[in-house]
Order: sequence, then structure tokens, then C-alpha cells
Amino acid sequence: MKILVIGGGGREHALARKFMQSPNVDQVYCAPGNPGMLGDGIDLVPLAVNQVDELLAWAQEAEIDWTFVGPEQPLFLGIVDRFRAAGQKIFGPSQAAARLESSKKFAKELLIQNGIPTAHYQSFEDYKTAQAYVQEASFPLVIKADGPAAGKGVVIAQDLTTAETALADILEADCYGSQSQVVVEECLTGPEFSFFSLVHDGRVLHLPTAQDHKRAYDQDRGPNTGGMGAYAPVPFVDEGLYQEVVTTIVEPTLQAMEAAGYPYSGVLYTGLMLTAEGPKVIEFNTRFGDPETQILMSLLGDDFADTISQLLDSQPAQLTLKENRPSLGVVLAAEGYPNPYAKGMDLSPLVNACPADISLLYAGVGEKSGRLIAQGGRILMAVAQGDDLVQVAQQVYAYLDQNPIPQTFYRHDIGGQVISHSKEEKVS
Ligand code: AMP
Ligand code: GLY
Repeated sequence: MKILVIGGGGREHALARKFMQSPNVDQVYCAPGNPGMLGDGIDLVPLAVNQVDELLAWAQEAEIDWTFVGPEQPLFLGIVDRFRAAGQKIFGPSQAAARLESSKKFAKELLIQNGIPTAHYQSFEDYKTAQAYVQEASFPLVIKADGPAAGKGVVIAQDLTTAETALADILEADCYGSQSQVVVEECLTGPEFSFFSLVHDGRVLHLPTAQDHKRAYDQDRGPNTGGMGAYAPVPFVDEGLYQEVVTTIVEPTLQAMEAAGYPYSGVLYTGLMLTAEGPKVIEFNTRFGDPETQILMSLLGDDFADTISQLLDSQPAQLTLKENRPSLGVVLAAEGYPNPYAKGMDLSPLVNACPADISLLYAGVGEKSGRLIAQGGRILMAVAQGDDLVQVAQQVYAYLDQNPIPQTFYRHDIGGQVISHSKEEKVS
């Protein structure tokens, strides 16, 4: 079996490496991938994720069995529709179904119309009406750009001035690209977690839960990023809560999509908040999370590629979980990220010192004279798996602390929320 993975970051490295583990897989190709993947025997295809026509032509020429889409941009461009129309198997949602992520208004309408728990909201197209609404509303409020905004279009406004500035930035100043709508939401409180489901042709498989850390610095300070670290499974999500998410949120969402004429296929990533009233949807993404995927892949069996094949062939499919040992990973980022950042740092001291019980998933890396160098904001992720999260976190941090790379940084508190709890439990 030959597989094409679209994307070039740590998420795609984790997916491609996992697919390579199946005895039924001959070769995995990644477009564009990154040089850090070469050590796993993954072949790189020099095409960007938005070159939909070229990717299709390449997949046909190379006789790829199926394609897995990592990031959202090609989904929003309709890559799944294009591949399917040409008879190529591809795992992901159609352009219309990907609106669950590409339009917050579409997602909110679907949720509310179907009684699926989420924050109350209003949407607006013009500044004056939105301003009149927030002037009467109670704070805090969450203001969101409707369309894709590279993870930046969400402002939690504690007061009217912040809310008005956010509305003007989104609707009038085009600070988040050209946005035609804004969503104003009730602010929910509680711990967040991510829930991933694999869906195709009416079949659904759910993965263990994961938790991302989106802010750049310790104690959730600093700007929002793509994600600075993650762990799985999430201890506060017990079997009862997990089932509640399936039956009150994921299944009704998939049924609603089907009923609306947009049957879902691909990965459904439900971002949730555990509020005092139970779990509520914060957002949907129509693809795997980065960096959650780097963690989740270590929990799955070697036959993950076979699971995707079964789903794409509309066969009974199963997901093999390895023993449920927790996994945790910390992202090494370039100084300055998520704003303009340092580049060109030699990563070999860290790479060469990597012990067998740590795995490295590469993202923003380049190659120079046979060495890996830093080239992107999120450079790599160091991941370990073990019997308990405290011990796994110690393992990862010992490795990163002992092998410092100049002009890089990482958070020191990944998993902190649950780790400090388990430390307290051990003391008592
Ligand atoms: P989103 O891009 O919709 O995932 O939002 C980014 C982050 O903003 C989420 O991970 C939450 O931490 C926060 N957020 C979004 N919506 C809400 C909400 N209604 N209440 C509280 N926090 C929110
Ligand atoms: N980890 C957050 C995301 O992939 O959107």
C-alpha cells in the first residue's frame, strides 16, 4: 500500500511515521514534508499543501492507494471533492462539510438548531449593529472572526472598550483577513480538552482525549500559538464523561451534518470545555490537531493505516489502542514565535543526544550540510510515554533541559494542571 500525507509539520510527521509502522504499507510520501522525516524512510514530495491540481496529478501518477490530509487549508480549497471526482481515495471532509471549521457561524447555527451544548451566540455583519449589541451585553464576552484567521481571530473581552476594538479589528480594519461576519459568544469557564473522531460513510471511531496548551508561555501567559505541548489521555475525562461527549455532542453533530446534506468524512476534532453544566463545544476543527496528534499516535497500535483503509473502503473498521499508558510532549519553539522568530540554529546537539525513550517529531526544520537546522516557529516536539504523567514529564524535561539550543524556548508546565493534582494525591 502506498500512502500520501499532505502537510509538512509535526502532525504530519507523526501520521506518516505511524502509517510506516503497518506491515501492509510499502511507502509513505509526504507533501511537502520536512527533512526531519527522512530518518523514518518517509519520501518527500516537493508540492505545497495548496497545490491541489498538482497533488492530484502526482497521486495519480504515483498510483497512491489513498491520501490523508493533515492541515485545514487544502480542505477549505476543496481538495477532497477534487480527489474524489477523479476517483482517488482521500480521507477528509468535503469543502462544504469543512465549513464546520471554516465558518464559525455555520458551526454555531448547526449546534444551536440541533440542541447540542455550546455557548450562546449572536452573529453580525456590520460594526454598528454589533456595537449596539455589546453595549447592552454583560461581560466577559468572546468575540470571534467568522472565517479562518490562523488561530488568532478570538478575543476574550472583559470590558466594552476591548469588545469594540475587537469588533472594529475584525469587521472594519481587516486585521484577520477579510471577514464578512463576527460571532459574539457567552464566555464559558472550565478545563478544555480535545476529542477526535474518525468518520467515513456512517462509520465512526473515537480516539482517547487529549489536552493542548495554546499559550506561548508558562501558566497560560503570552500570545496564542498553534500549541506548545500536549498530553493524552486526559485524566479528568472519565468513562461517563467520554460517553456523554459521544452521545450528546459528536453523534448528534454527525447526524445533523448528514441531515443538512453534508455527510461528514475525515477527522472531526471537537474542542470542548467542561463547564459546571457539563461539556460544551468551543469549536470544531475538521482535521487532526497539532500538537495533539504527535501524542495520540503513540497511543495507537501499529495498524492505524489499516484502520483508515477499512474506513475508506466502507468496511467494518477497528481502532487498536496500545495499553493505555499516558503520553506527553513539549514543543521546542524559536525565540519570538508566534511573532517573527529566530532561524538557522543548529539542532544537532539536541538531536544527537536523543535517548531511545524519547521520540522527536519534526516541524519547522531545514537541512544544511547534513545537519538539521531550525527554520520554523514550532521546530520540533519531544515526546515520551510511560506509566504516569509525572514521570513522563520529568523524562522529557530532563532531556530538553540538558541539551539547550540557543534562541529557542519551551513551556515548563505541560501537563501541569493534572500533574500538580496527582502530586497532591500522592502526598495525601
Ligand atoms: P477557538 O479558536 O474557537 O478554539 O478559540 C480559541 C480559544 O479561545 C479556545 O481554546 C478557548 O480557550 C477560548 N474560547 C473560545 N470560545 C470560548 C468561549 N465561548 N468561552 C470561553 N473561552 C472561549
Ligand atoms: N492544537 C490546536 C489545533 O491544531 O488547532
